[in-house]
Amino acid sequence: MRTKAADLGFPPDFLWGASTSAYQVEGAAKEDGRGPSIWDTFCTLKDRVDHGDTGDVACDHYHRYRDDVRLMADLGVRAYRFSLAWPRLLPRGKGAVNEKGLAFYDRLIDSLLERGIEPWACLYHWDLPQALHDLGGWTSRDTAGWFADYAALCARRYGDRVKHWGTINEPSVHSIFGYAFGWGAPSIADRSMHARAIHTLNLAHGGAVDALRALVPGASIGCIHSHQPCRPERDDPACVEAAALFDELWNRAFPDPQILGAYPPRLAEAIEPYVQPGDLARICRPIDWFGVNHYAPMYAAPNPDMVWGCGFGAPPDDMPRSDVGWPLEPAAMRENLLTIHRRYRLPIVVTENGYGSKSEAGLADTPRVDYLRANIASMADALHDGADVRGYFVWSLLDNFEWGGGYGSRFGIVHVDFATQVRTPKVSARWYADFIRRG
Ligand code: FCB
Repeated sequence: MRTKAADLGFPPDFLWGASTSAYQVEGAAKEDGRGPSIWDTFCTLKDRVDHGDTGDVACDHYHRYRDDVRLMADLGVRAYRFSLAWPRLLPRGKGAVNEKGLAFYDRLIDSLLERGIEPWACLYHWDLPQALHDLGGWTSRDTAGWFADYAALCARRYGDRVKHWGTINEPSVHSIFGYAFGWGAPSIADRSMHARAIHTLNLAHGGAVDALRALVPGASIGCIHSHQPCRPERDDPACVEAAALFDELWNRAFPDPQILGAYPPRLAEAIEPYVQPGDLARICRPIDWFGVNHYAPMYAAPNPDMVWGCGFGAPPDDMPRSDVGWPLEPAAMRENLLTIHRRYRLPIVVTENGYGSKSEAGLADTPRVDYLRANIASMADALHDGADVRGYFVWSLLDNFEWGGGYGSRFGIVHVDFATQVRTPKVSARWYADFIRRG
């Protein structure tokens, strides 16, 4: 049966988009003056990324962006969420500007606008310039100031054409994986460094909001959070407490100070030593929307080997899972959106949602269609129940470099043959296009 957006109660101006990020799709890692990022470095470490994959070539979007924009236009996608690569624009993170890098995003933005696709630019999707990491990276307060300078550069260059700006993609996942679990760049597992990184990322967000607001007339600004229902693996007090702590680390460490002006209670003491007078006011700046990347409910459990004493637990045995092992529970989308709505009272944009598969199986991706259809219906339920949801971006337009999973985890609605770079829309792309068109 076909589903129409309007049947589900989406208003005509509801925004349907597709999402990618720079390091995951661009490639051209050493071209036209781009500097190295912490993910380039991470990919050189032994056994950290499946099959030793790297983002050196990825989807070659840097050269093929025109084809990709045409593909989006064919699918009827109305907005494209991409990220700007800080090390492409400022190869050392600060100082000398790379004109060739700036010109790339001019071309990308112009070709989007020519085809009537709204550009949604995110300033940071995990690719910190290595040169700044060498100066302390997110554990150094200075990085927040350099990020604000970088935001101002982007605002001045693109603000005439780009009105929708995300500051940081999933600061919680970036900092937990990078500074607490050591599973992602820059591969650190240290509680106090993680606490520092949280605070610097929050200061960076605040500084970037101010820069964008000052320099982009009519800017619409948000931060993009991974926020998922967080449940205890078992119903015992230690597990319930672990889940409460994990919820604060994953879901609240960033939105709480950014929107409510305070760190959540279990984290406040650890972060306190790094907070200077006036910091919370610098972090809590007025924003226009809450970006949520929604995938699946999470289960947490105590784990003495982790720096915070908690970590991922196992989902219930009878819970269905995706091909990459993530729980499948469409109703969690509604639950999550209503939680965000009640706590933060902002318009919400679903900036990522999608289904990962391990197999090459290819184009007949029925489980992805089922996932998207059910999650969009659950989003409609949340809208109906009062959550102010304004848009939805599928993750991802293209199969791409899925961080530690390399090219073996595929989230694209468009298949990419990484040997030839041929793009082929999967059944899910056809379904999404049809859904948008009929809505
Ligand atoms: C999110 C990331 C995105 C992608 C998806 C699957 O956490 O923001 O880059 O890896 O997961």
